[in-house]
Amino acid sequence: MMTSITITPCTGPGAEIGNVDLSQPLSDEDFSAIRQAFADHGLIFFRDQTITPEQHIAFAERWGDINVNRFFTPVDGYPQIAEVRKEPDQKTNIGGGWHTDHSYDQEPAMGSILVARELPPKGGDTMFADMAAAYDALDEETKAKLEGLEAVHSSKHIFGGEAAYRSESDAGERLHNADAADALDDVVHPVVITHPLSGKKILYVNAAFTTDIVGMSREESMKLLMPLYAHAAQDRFVTRFEWKPGSIAFWDNRATWHYALNDYHGERRVMHRITLEGCPLAA
Ligand code: SIN
Repeated sequence: MMTSITITPCTGPGAEIGNVDLSQPLSDEDFSAIRQAFADHGLIFFRDQTITPEQHIAFAERWGDINVNRFFTPVDGYPQIAEVRKEPDQKTNIGGGWHTDHSYDQEPAMGSILVARELPPKGGDTMFADMAAAYDALDEETKAKLEGLEAVHSSKHIFGGEAAYRSESDAGERLHNADAADALDDVVHPVVITHPLSGKKILYVNAAFTTDIVGMSREESMKLLMPLYAHAAQDRFVTRFEWKPGSIAFWDNRATWHYALNDYHGERRVMHRITLEGCPLAA
């Protein structure tokens, strides 16, 4: 059987998948077309979907094992689904800065499937940056400098008991399990990885969780990292996704960064996120 799935590349990173109903089980042909698009683009979007939490879980399980989030409040009755919620009286949001989820894990999560549940009338877009394109566009001297380097990633300063994000932001009130963050050993990943699905070279550092370059002081590390962050956040590597009712985004954490814009104060935004287990990363 042929697939009738359509794949429309975005102007920036990512592709929109059409002619599919995620509330129904996918045929092997349709699934394989979507999987290829995910490997090629590292970021795929679906529009006009109406799926229940059970169907969200069933779609996620088609890709692999679900990573049950240690720090986020789960959706009532669905421990597999993390709730990304901002209430009208909250000032800070979850994910309001460039980051990639779970880089603080030894085997960082493969990706997340985010379903819009309640949207503000305006605002609340999510930006995604393409870390393969960002790496490719580095000059040869910088690429040579990054070769063989490794970076330390940590969750303690974000999710731990002493973290400012937890204690000083109202988004932090929705986090739990500070002890788990404090107990988690920091991990080391290559600064440039080879993507496990696409084989592309990826710049794998991020402003939220990368704390140091192995063998460098904090100051030297930041001197190297800050220009890389500024480089990778340029518009030419970024897609800004405007959520509508029925929208779903599925990003690869190893291939992209994301940033949830916090420009809808006084309104509620509720999203359901399922994160999928990943694998060890190598240069
Ligand atoms: C996240 O960082 O996972 C949240 C993304 C979003 O709410 O758009």
